[in-house]
Amino acid sequence: MSYHALARKYRPSTFAEMVGQEHVTRTLRAALRHDRLSHAYLFSGPRGCGKTSVARLLAKAINCAVGEKDEPCGTCDSCKGIAGGTWLDVLEIDAASHTGVDNIRELRDLAQYTPAQGRTASSSSTRSTCSRRAPSTPC
Ligand SMILES: Nc1ncnc2c1ncn2[C@@H]1O[C@H](COP(=O)(O)OP(=O)(O)O)[C@@H](O)[C@H]1O
Ligand SMILES: [Mg+2]
Ligand SMILES: [Zn+2]
Repeated sequence: MSYHALARKYRPSTFAEMVGQEHVTRTLRAALRHDRLSHAYLFSGPRGCGKTSVARLLAKAINCAVGEKDEPCGTCDSCKGIAGGTWLDVLEIDAASHTGVDNIRELRDLAQYTPAQGRTASSSSTRSTCSRRAPSTPC
């Protein structure tokens, strides 16, 4: 049986599974339902409060072709790929250790390409996530 770190094993796979943080999940789910997503979101808070989890859920929701508009299905190719870190259009960097301007330049450079696999490309650091729908719109 393959080993999964506890943080991966127990990371919420739906917005509904998030404990608390309703002001965040309610706002994001409403934006998803009404196609009113902003091009960038900044999540802030102490370590372990769910920033990375919410960023991944948002990336899943905007790429998921199967689930409800405001909740990823968790089982389609993009949902599984994003959860496993193998989905090309979701780029994630650890902003705690990648603090240089060059790191952000690199992220910006990668974010300008048209999505390779999914509908939307999104990039996220530990403290923020941004996504774009139109090709070559910098975010
Ligand atoms: N609001 C939450 N509801 C459910 N689980 C959470 C929540 N916040 C954090 N966790 C759990 O804690 C772990 C770390 O959360 P994470 O999203 O990586 O935090 P952060 O990015 O804010 O440091 C996750 O694997 C998840 O299981
Ligand atoms: Mg994090
Ligand atoms: Zn899905």
